[in-house]
Amino acid sequence: MSVHSAVAVIRAKRDGGELSDAQIDWVVDAFTRGEIADEQMSALAMAIVWRGMSRRETARWTAAMIDSGKRLDFSDLTRPTVDKHSTGGVGDKITLPLSPLVAACGAAVPQLSGRGLGHTGGTLDKLEAISGWQADISVERMREMLADPAIGAVVCAAGADLAPADKRLYALRDVTGTVESIPLIASSIMSKKIAEGTGALVLDVKVGRGAFLKELSQARELATAMVELGTDAGVRTVALLTAMDTPLGRTAGNALEVAESLEVLAGGGPADVVELTLVLAREMLAQAGIDGIDPADALADGRAMDHWRAMITAQGGNPEAPLPTARHTEILRAPLSGTLIRLDALDVGIAAWQLGAGRARQGDAVQPGAGIEMHAKEGDSVTAGEPLLTLHTDTPEAIPVALETLRDSYDIGETDEPFGPLVLGRITAS
Ligand code: URA
Repeated sequence: MSVHSAVAVIRAKRDGGELSDAQIDWVVDAFTRGEIADEQMSALAMAIVWRGMSRRETARWTAAMIDSGKRLDFSDLTRPTVDKHSTGGVGDKITLPLSPLVAACGAAVPQLSGRGLGHTGGTLDKLEAISGWQADISVERMREMLADPAIGAVVCAAGADLAPADKRLYALRDVTGTVESIPLIASSIMSKKIAEGTGALVLDVKVGRGAFLKELSQARELATAMVELGTDAGVRTVALLTAMDTPLGRTAGNALEVAESLEVLAGGGPADVVELTLVLAREMLAQAGIDGIDPADALADGRAMDHWRAMITAQGGNPEAPLPTARHTEILRAPLSGTLIRLDALDVGIAAWQLGAGRARQGDAVQPGAGIEMHAKEGDSVTAGEPLLTLHTDTPEAIPVALETLRDSYDIGETDEPFGPLVLGRITAS
């Protein structure tokens, strides 16, 4: 018989109290074992949404979620480990070129990723567009890939035993309106990243219309909480705040984004994708303690591409296989000439999702070829009648729905205003 009771813990937080370490350890453990009912955990999550948690409570909550499962340990590898986590954005395919690039520069990159839900795509969905590629691999295989100097990076699905308390809690939060809490989001993300066993971490916290945080102040608060959690847990952590008002690159959709990532790995690709890949690579190398290597050289001379091929092949993928394409396309043409002064990330993300690139519910299938190709980016000149966007889908009935979503997604006109920077801020441990 426990000295704690779920009702007492809920009441304490409801009334604005601080939970003790013992209460937090007990509540997370009892919930994982099924001793605390979903409705009780939902009530506690709602109380946390309203009352918040202190830095100590959030750190303890995170530790309890890590302790609910296995913690991986790659400290025996000879190379330093470093990972990147993005809070999710439209067209955010950066992990694809970034992981092999950082591996090519001498770090080991263990990246446990997820599948997408809603309008932002998941890294695993993108890689699953590659023929034969498998997201589920064992920890032993992960270790072999990280230790192999020709590979050095692995992007795979998190096993069921990695922070299982977070998996259960996130599923509850998703259906009870309790996702929107900085301590709950920070502990959810960081419990998985710390349990993954990386020595260093770079966070890309997205801000803007296509991100789940719309305001810079909120993003700064989340980034600060995550950097504190990582640092307190012994993971060297830094966060960048980056703009997500317009999509990254020129594609949103799984196979389309793989193709664009290959362009970056081949030394080309859209300027914003290249810029963010290099900015994040430099941060990762600095956190890993690797000096004197310019990742731009490894993109230009093909070393990053060699690591990509090895990484994909090691997980059963065929890097030479043609990527899947959608059965139907529809071109949206510019209605007038001028400068593209706005292209809205949220609208493009939702339209790509409606075309079949994303899923509405966990477990739904995605169409690998579906998505949106952008022929112009903000600041580009467009000509009336020329293609602005190409819609790709296997389900042609989705085209009118997506076109309706895209109706007010862009503005064409004249402007002297400069377009804002991609990197909006940098948060380090205080
Ligand atoms: N992503 C997560 O993993 N957890 C959250 O709470 C929100 C986004």
